[in-house]
Amino acid sequence: MSKIYFDNGSTSYPKAPGVAKAMAELLEQGAFNINRGNYEGAYEVAERVLETRELLAKMFGAERSKQVVFTPGITHSLNYVIKGLLKAGDHVLVTGMEHNAVMRPLCQMEKLGVVYEVVPTDMEGMVKASDVEKLIRKETKAIIMLHASNVCGTVVPIEEIGAICKKHGLYFVVDSAQSAGTLPINMKESNIDFLAFTGHKGLLGPQGIGGFLISDRLNQELVPLIAGGTGSISDSLEMPDTMPDKYESGTLNLPGIIGLHASLEYLEKTGIEKIHQKKMELTKYLLDGLKKYPDIRVVGRQGLEDRVAVVSLDFQNADNAMAAFQLEAEYGIMTRVGLHCAPMAHKSLGTYPQGTVRVAFSADNTFEEIDVLLRALKEL
Ligand SMILES: Cc1ncc(COP(=O)(O)O)c(C=O)c1O
Repeated sequence: MSKIYFDNGSTSYPKAPGVAKAMAELLEQGAFNINRGNYEGAYEVAERVLETRELLAKMFGAERSKQVVFTPGITHSLNYVIKGLLKAGDHVLVTGMEHNAVMRPLCQMEKLGVVYEVVPTDMEGMVKASDVEKLIRKETKAIIMLHASNVCGTVVPIEEIGAICKKHGLYFVVDSAQSAGTLPINMKESNIDFLAFTGHKGLLGPQGIGGFLISDRLNQELVPLIAGGTGSISDSLEMPDTMPDKYESGTLNLPGIIGLHASLEYLEKTGIEKIHQKKMELTKYLLDGLKKYPDIRVVGRQGLEDRVAVVSLDFQNADNAMAAFQLEAEYGIMTRVGLHCAPMAHKSLGTYPQGTVRVAFSADNTFEEIDVLLRALKEL
């Protein structure tokens, strides 16, 4: 039985061409540590790391590559900002669609006196900018939200909400897990102060590398969560204030960065609009095909507007977990079932506690693969 991978919301597969080769070459030919070795090989790796920062700054509309900080991924990045910025008495707004990468650190901070409030969404997971503005108080410090839902693919209006943040002097923190590499994101135009990204989803890179881009304004206030050696200003026991060292203690994931470098070059050459277009054609094909199945509810937006290629299904007359299990066991179709680390989003969408079966495309998926899925759903 051939296998069909529809779990790109979790991690992309296949990775961009050249990623595995670049990583293997680094490991075989000298994965020398940067900022610590005074020899040619280390300088070469440092050069590639700088190029990766430049590619990211260009992709996300940041002015300088020094605004790019590497971490293992969005989860770590969000912990950095939530725990390094918020103090007892601060108030923050999130939306009803957030992932646990936002909610769990926020719940920890709530025990220390931080107050958070959830801006409700409609049944399609959409949040209105005016509803966000209504909840702003004088203690509000930041608005933290995802750009696109990992449960149902709904894209929220970050430009409008960024403008509200600017008007009220709030920090704007955006989780780009399901939109980076698919939708254009411009930090400056959308007034984003902290853009958390992960390399292994739409950016088509390896797992374990991601990071954030930070505005100068927020950088001045943010306290680094992790302290340690940076290979710079080593005579001081204090953390350096220079970027990006301020947030990059310890040895960086160099194979991950070099893999990400290869995938970012691929994305730049291919163009993310082209990738997004293909994914949306696949989404349309699936949504059209599903119209013949009244027993399967498409959760979230029904059309293509304001969405990415993440489609959640709720079986009305069958158990979702059993359906996903059968899709894999009998047809080789890999999906993801359950709450997708976002219980609050399922409460917003009316699919808690049963969760959904999630299908998330990459541009490498085909219409024939969707035909196999539709046939399998008919038989199920
Ligand atoms: C919306 C959203 N936020 C955050 C994350 C966490 O990303 P990572 O596991 O790469 O840190 C994910 C991953 O599933 C996600 O979908």
